[in-house]
Amino acid sequence: TIPSQVRLIDVGPRDGLQNEKSPVPAEVKIELVHRLQAAGLQEIEVTSYVSPKWVPQMADNHAVMQGVQRQSGVRYSVLTPNLKGFEAALLDKPDEIVVFGSASEAFSQKNINCSIAESIERFAPVVEAALAAGIAVRGAMSCTVGCPYEGEIAPERVAYLAGLLKGIGVQRVDVADTIGVGTPYKVQWAIEATLQHYALDDVSGHFHDTYGQALANTLAALELGVWNFQTSVAGLGGCPYAKGATGNVATEDVVYMLQGMGIDTGIDLDRLIDAGVFISDFLGRKPNSRAATALLNK
Ligand code: HMG
Ligand code: MG
Repeated sequence: TIPSQVRLIDVGPRDGLQNEKSPVPAEVKIELVHRLQAAGLQEIEVTSYVSPKWVPQMADNHAVMQGVQRQSGVRYSVLTPNLKGFEAALLDKPDEIVVFGSASEAFSQKNINCSIAESIERFAPVVEAALAAGIAVRGAMSCTVGCPYEGEIAPERVAYLAGLLKGIGVQRVDVADTIGVGTPYKVQWAIEATLQHYALDDVSGHFHDTYGQALANTLAALELGVWNFQTSVAGLGGCPYAKGATGNVATEDVVYMLQGMGIDTGIDLDRLIDAGVFISDFLGRKPNSRAATALLNK
């Protein structure tokens, strides 16, 4: 049955902005986080502690995390690919860290410069240290339906990765369609594979919208009972290691759909649209959200 409540994790400040060519100042990122929390987002993926040579846009991670005025009840998460990243993140006291693996070997190599097996070895001490410090741990699973280098990914490979993440203590996982090639049944198969190792409450959907399938895929995930999703305000984003892939499904579009279905998100759509307009204005473009466009032109 379709859940009556949904939790949205806005990944705009991280997944959304990481691929922007020209630097976005820390103050703008901080203001975006403030506007998202004001709109009622209870989880925000703020930044990542990765190599500034690989992803220059996230080099201001400390400044952004230090600048955010935290609101109680909001969970602030950050990406940490290895111990070096985790130690840097620890200084900024995130509520949750995210290790990010891939169901595809080739994407693992391109994205984090190691094999799937090596990535698990790198994540294990990070997970252990985070849990010991009282920090929650999420695992992002990239390329769960398709890979820009390997093509289609079989559900067995998703189950394999989910099992490895479970084995090292990762508490919950994201089923990511990194390049947005998924369609509803394929996404359901990836989720069902993940459910071999994780409970429904600990599985979230992360759908990029490259082929315009992300809302349909969200509905397909809801039909399986999934109630956590990563979305990106104004549809910001793309992945630096997945050429041509567009952003996550726009948070505004998902909120509009869920509201229409009578599903509670605790998010104020008007304020969310304001947040999307704020960052889009800064980037010199219109929000990549159909709902925002429609409501702004009403
Ligand atoms: P590496 O080169 O294999 O690492 O990179 P290394 O350990 O050999 O170190 C090389 C250099 O990087 C050294 O510096 C290290 O100090 C430095 P040097 O001595 O050359 O000056 N270094 C670091 N610096 C800062 N923070 C760190 C760090 N680690 C090493 N944590 C690494 C490995 C993972 C760091 C690199 O490949 C990297 O940063 N990759 C970027 C990955 C990334 O951010 N991808 C985008 C996010 S994932 C995503 O978007 C998908 C997701 O949205 C879900 C989906 O849609 O699929 C989550
Ligand atoms: Mg992503």
